[in-house]
Amino acid sequence: MNKPESHQKDSAVNLLSNRSFGLYVHWPFCRAKCPYCDFNSHVKTTFDEKSFGNALLKEMTHMASLLPEHRSLSSLFFGGGTPSLMPPWLVEQLIAHAQNLFGFAADIEITAEANPTSVEVKSMLEFRRAGVNRVSMGVQSLDDANLKFLGREHSVKDALAALDTVRKAFDAVSIDLIYALPNQSAKAWRTMLSEALSLGLRHMSLYQLTIEAGTIFHTRQRKGEIMALDDDRAADLYEITQEMTTAAGLPAYEISNHAAVGQECRHNLTYWQAADWIGVGPGAHGRFAVFEPERGCLSRTATITRRGPAGWLNAVNKIGHGIEKKEIDTPKDWAHEMVMMGLRLSDGIHFDAIKALCGSIESWIDFPAVNQCIEAGWLHHDHETSSLVTTQDGRLRLNHILSAILR
Ligand SMILES: C[S@@+](CC[C@H](N)C(=O)[O-])C[C@H]1O[C@@H](n2cnc3c(N)ncnc32)[C@H](O)[C@@H]1O
Ligand code: SF4
Repeated sequence: MNKPESHQKDSAVNLLSNRSFGLYVHWPFCRAKCPYCDFNSHVKTTFDEKSFGNALLKEMTHMASLLPEHRSLSSLFFGGGTPSLMPPWLVEQLIAHAQNLFGFAADIEITAEANPTSVEVKSMLEFRRAGVNRVSMGVQSLDDANLKFLGREHSVKDALAALDTVRKAFDAVSIDLIYALPNQSAKAWRTMLSEALSLGLRHMSLYQLTIEAGTIFHTRQRKGEIMALDDDRAADLYEITQEMTTAAGLPAYEISNHAAVGQECRHNLTYWQAADWIGVGPGAHGRFAVFEPERGCLSRTATITRRGPAGWLNAVNKIGHGIEKKEIDTPKDWAHEMVMMGLRLSDGIHFDAIKALCGSIESWIDFPAVNQCIEAGWLHHDHETSSLVTTQDGRLRLNHILSAILR
């Protein structure tokens, strides 16, 4: 390698080493399919846990071989589906294998999503021994009638008992709640949110119910039932959410995610900062930058694995991975992803950082349109940190802003 190339490589690798690097493992099985959920989740039928687990380990080895540079993991995330249904011995093997392949940053965050039933909570304590240090629990509501509407298999009492047990074993615990249910009044949401905030958690994900195509809720909506709150009332609940969480010291650091300072989910920040991660398991997405010697710059690879668990398992057994699509993103794709994801964050985006990774961005971002959005009060240019952030008004019309500023 000649000198300029080596210099380009050093500075590219240096840029990457300052950015986070995560590993996502998808467990696609659930006890029952919730009527609102369009995640890649299936009610487990005939899968043999051992062969499924071996396939996850095998695919992880393959994904590691796609990265020429050594990078330690800053986060590992077991998502689903319902990862709390994973056998703890498998969680332990996956963590050990990831550590051997990549190495762990000293303060690695290892999260598992959990459903609040007592059986699963028991295995969460074994997950702790296996190395998991953060739990994200799908409480979904603090009202039994809402839980019934959402088709959940647990009551509020079950969820609070599960939360209590998990909090005794883990320092970092987050809950998910779904709001803006049909007929949910501002008063009812204020009461529920205030109860949730009184739990004293340092992270919460608060999602407005969305009706996703292909779900039972979608079919019911098409038949004329009202399945979610109208946009105006949902926007009112969103404002209440911002006001109450901020007052409680849990402001939004992303549109639906709230945390005390320093308690943000590092793994999810990796997605929103369009940094690098590898995805293992059915339907998992991965995105990572590598140095391309021919072009003398970084390029970003995007992978997607087969979505169906059976097809994925067959593919991994045959060829060592279930990758269905592997593409090199153009620098423009990467720059757009950084803007689209970054504007969801309260820290916003830094054009200088985007330029450093993607090159000249003037032809892909419409700067006069950015200025118009600033004048409209939807975007704010923070001169101190030289970042561009979305205002509360802007967050309600993020899609509109993006279509105006990206070209
Ligand atoms: C991968 S899912 C589920 C994790 C876990 N299986 C559970 O159900 O608790 C992550 C979160 O997305 C949220 N979610 C899923 N579908 C949603 C929808 N249609 N609208 C709003 N939030 C949704 C739920 O809060 C859920 O906890
Ligand atoms: S919401 Fe959770 S438990 Fe329900 S189907 Fe989706 S992933 Fe499974």
